[in-house]
Order: sequence, then structure tokens, then C-alpha cells
Amino acid sequence: MAEYDFDVLIIGAGPGGYVAAIRAAQLGLKTACVESRATLGGTCLNVGCIPSKAMLHASEYYDAAASGAMTKMGVEVSPTLNLDAMHGQRRDAVEQLTGGIEYLFKKNKVTWLKGLGSFVDAHTVKVGDATHTAKEVVIATGSSVTPLPGVEVDNEKGVVVDSTGALELPKVPKNMVVIGGGVIGLELGSVWRRLGASVTVVEFLDQILPGMDEDVRKEANKIFKKQGIEYKLSTKVTGVSVRGKTATLTLEPAAGGEEEALKADCVLVSIGRKPNTEGLGLENIGLETNKRGQIEVDGQFRTSVDGVRAIGDCVPGPMLAHKAEDEGIAVAEWIAGQTGIVNHDVIPSVVYTMPEIAGVGLTEEQAKEKAPSGAIKVGKLPMLANSRAKTNHEPDGFVKVISDAESDRVLGVWCIASVAGTMIAEAALAMEFGATSEDIAYTCHAHPTHSEALKEAAMAVQGKPIHM
Ligand code: FAD
Ligand code: NAI
Repeated sequence: MAEYDFDVLIIGAGPGGYVAAIRAAQLGLKTACVESRATLGGTCLNVGCIPSKAMLHASEYYDAAASGAMTKMGVEVSPTLNLDAMHGQRRDAVEQLTGGIEYLFKKNKVTWLKGLGSFVDAHTVKVGDATHTAKEVVIATGSSVTPLPGVEVDNEKGVVVDSTGALELPKVPKNMVVIGGGVIGLELGSVWRRLGASVTVVEFLDQILPGMDEDVRKEANKIFKKQGIEYKLSTKVTGVSVRGKTATLTLEPAAGGEEEALKADCVLVSIGRKPNTEGLGLENIGLETNKRGQIEVDGQFRTSVDGVRAIGDCVPGPMLAHKAEDEGIAVAEWIAGQTGIVNHDVIPSVVYTMPEIAGVGLTEEQAKEKAPSGAIKVGKLPMLANSRAKTNHEPDGFVKVISDAESDRVLGVWCIASVAGTMIAEAALAMEFGATSEDIAYTCHAHPTHSEALKEAAMAVQGKPIHM
């Protein structure tokens, strides 16, 4: 009889967990994955990346038609919003993709253990009334919404909602206040702005999109303002009270000062996410979390407890699906005795607004401090100078390439462009291969494409762009 029921048991079937499970099974390991949701795919497929992109994509079409942007191209239309149908196509996308993971589990012979998993000991996990043993256990429990003290989210009622509630609103709010000018606030705020809501973003810091390059943050702020989003920066929300269908927010300058009130018929709380580690029985295996509630791991995703590894949103690093997926592949490879590598210095991030905002590597501010030679070179090209963007009536944004002043090795790339999320993949690949800005500049790019802006921004690092 085998010593354990499974070679590997993964808790959580988000992009970290389900990818780890499939790769482990591909590598010949007997694999189980515990998931408590009714469908596989985690936050990403059920209430995150996929449904938000479904609403962003559909609302972008509506906005293009409603705002008259298409008139410029000779297309005269007066759209009517069918919000039920828009939600329908979102649910469809989620159903198909989560069903697809179930199919992949069956195909790869991954056992789905349905229910909440918790540790009995380092090699034993309880799911419902049953216990299952495994040689290695991987924690991939992801994250959930950070609550704002004193603010009660009620997604059913739809007045004060989190990202999950904001994806499901049955009607377009008149006034929406978004608490937190981060990725979720701007993506979901954009959806409802496009569909007709007036949107105000209240942000604690003095600028939106913390963590991104300063130039990008300023330019994004201007673009969203032009689109009609209002801001209250350096402002904190101290309370929200709800009466019937109206919420009243109490705001205060972040540095302290006089209070003001703001009314809204919908409030979106999007002030970050926190790792899911409660109820996992970590105390039964003596595993502690750090100050941010994350599980610390080494380069092989091993925790401080033998036989227990962790990946994805519940470990340090950006809370992004592709980072979780790559860690899922790598952890399975380590468990199978191979070498699994994730280069955490080259993880792109994308905000899927219009235009999209994307970056990889260091910001200009970080590069000034960390450049190996102590100095940097920067090349920038406005999208207005890119023939395709100009022809498509997409003048906003720029591409910026940051490289080390001596070696010319690329340290970071940032773009704001309609297809920045697609463009950033090339920059990530270049950086992964240790490219210099000259390597990018001398790589032939198809014409006319938005990607030529990356080539020209790289040429601008040498001071020689053609179209500027
Ligand atoms: P999760 O996807 O959170 O999955 C963890 C799973 O574990 C969950 O299904 C949960 O039910 C299960 N679980 C937890 N505890 C237990 C337990 N004890 N027993 C059994 N099961 C358990 N990232 C991007 O890269 N691009 C985007 O466009 C993007 N958009 C987003 C939009 C929104 C609105 C949100 C909220 C997030 C978005 N993200 C995006 C972030 C992305 O969803 C996460 O980074 C990603 O899902 C993390 O993957 P994970 O596998 O670590 O965890
Ligand atoms: P976030 O960390 O991106 O932004 C939260 C914002 O709220 C910050 O700007 C912060 O300063 C602000 N804030 C915090 N407390 C506040 C307060 N009391 N009052 C006002 N502002 C306050 O978090 P968000 O937007 O909730 O997203 C969570 C995570 O989900 C992201 O960090 C990202 O990892 C992931 N995500 C990724 C997406 C993508 O890749 N396109 C899309 C959506 C989410």
C-alpha cells in the first residue's frame, strides 16, 4: 500500500492551484486539488480577471458607440444598453472557462476534492468529514477583499459593494463613489462610467495607481479625468452610512482636517486584497504568517514546515493571476524533482482600461536607485507619433524604455496605449533574455503596429527615434 493517498495535494483551484495540479499530473504525480467553490478557476475565473474583462470589453463597445467616437470613422449609431444581455455574456464566459478547467482536471486525472480543506498535520488535510494524506501539500488559497473598518459591504443590496458586487449591479448607478484608486477601482469604475454613471474616485494617496511609474500615474490620471472620472486625492473615507438606496460617505483629508459628506447610490470598496489563511488550520502545523498575513516561502516555494509549500496570492509578491500560474508550474516542477524558475523581477502588470496601462521591471524612480551603473537612460515615444495609433484615433499615452546608462540593459518598460497589455509581452521577453535597448531598436517590427512605438522608444534611448 502506498504511504500516502496522493503524491501532491493542492488546496485551492485558482490560477495558482489549478495550474500546479495540471502540471503535477502531467509530470506523472498522483494529484488532488481541494476547492470549496462550486466551480474551479478561483477568484480569477469566477469573480476577477475574466468577468471584469467581459464587462470592460462590452462596455468599451457601448462607450465607443454612445460617445460619438465612432462617428469620426463614419459609423453613425445610437446604442441602446441591454444590461441583462451584457451580464449574460459575462456569465457565459465564466461558465465556459470554469467548465474548461473541470474538463482539464478530468483529462489529466486530477482528483477534485470538493469542500474546504484544513490541515490536520503537515501531510494530512481534512475536507468535510474525510481526511486525505499527501507527500507534499501546496497552499494556493488566494486572497479576498480587504474590508474597510466601519464600512459594511452588502453585495445583495447593491449600495455598498466590493468587486464581486460591482460586477453584478442590476442597474447602472447614477453616482458611483469608488474607494481606492487602484486597479480594481479604475477598471470597474471605468465600466460603470462608460455605461452612464458619474464616477468619483476617493484615494488616500496623492496619486492613483500606486506602485506604477510616476509618469504613468500622472498621465493615467489626466486621461481618466478627460473621460469624466472625478478624483478626491489625499482623502480618506472615515465612514459610510446607508439609508434606503442612498449611501453617505464621510471624507477627511488624509493629513487630517475638516470632514465633508458625499452622497452616492453605489459605493465600491476597492482598497486591496488580503491573503486567505484563516480556517486553514495553520496552527496545527506550526506555520505562521508574516505581518501582512502572507505565507513566506523560499525559491522552491517551501514554507518553514517540511512537505508544505505555498504559491499565488497568499505568498509575497504582486497579486496577479499570471504570477500565480507561473508559480503553479514551478512548484509542481520542484515537487517532481525538476527545477522550476519564476523570475520575479520580470512580471508584467496591466490595467485593462482604455487605453490600457502596462509595465514590467523597474519604474524610473526605482531604476535611478537600483541601476547597476548608478545611472539610467530613458527613451519615450508618445503614441501620437505612432502611425497606427494615430490612424485608429487613439492619440493618448506613450511608451517609455528605461535602461542602464552603461550596459544599456533594459531595466523597465512602461506603456499607456490601447493595446499596452499585448505590447508589454515583447518587453518582458526582451528583459527575460537580458536585452539592451539597442536589441529592441534593431529588431524589425511589423508596420503599421502599436508595437513600433516600443521599437521607437528604444531608439529614443539612443537619442535617435525617426518619427519624433
Ligand atoms: P485565487 O484565484 O484566489 O484562488 C484561490 C482558491 O482557493 C479560491 O477558489 C478559493 O475558493 C479556494 N480556497 C481558499 N481557501 C480554501 C480552503 N481552505 N479549502 C478549499 N479551497 C479554498 N489578475 C490579473 O493578473 N489580471 C487581471 O486582469 C485581474 N483582474 C482581477 C479583477 C478582479 C475584480 C479581482 C478581484 C482580481 C483580479 N486579478 C487579476 C487578481 C487575480 O484574480 C489573482 O491574482 C489570482 O486569482 C490569484 O490566484 P490564486 O490561485 O493565488 O488564488
Ligand atoms: P490596489 O492595491 O490596486 O489599490 C487600492 C488603492 O486603495 C490604493 O491606491 C490605496 O492607496 C487605496 N486605499 C487604501 N485604503 C484606502 C482608504 N481607506 N481610503 C481611500 N483609498 C484607500 O487594490 P485593488 O484595486 O483593490 O486590487 C487588489 C489587487 O487585485 C490588485 O493589487 C491586483 O493585484 C489585483 N488586480 C489586478 C488586476 C489586473 O491585473 N488588471 C485587476 C484587478 C485586480
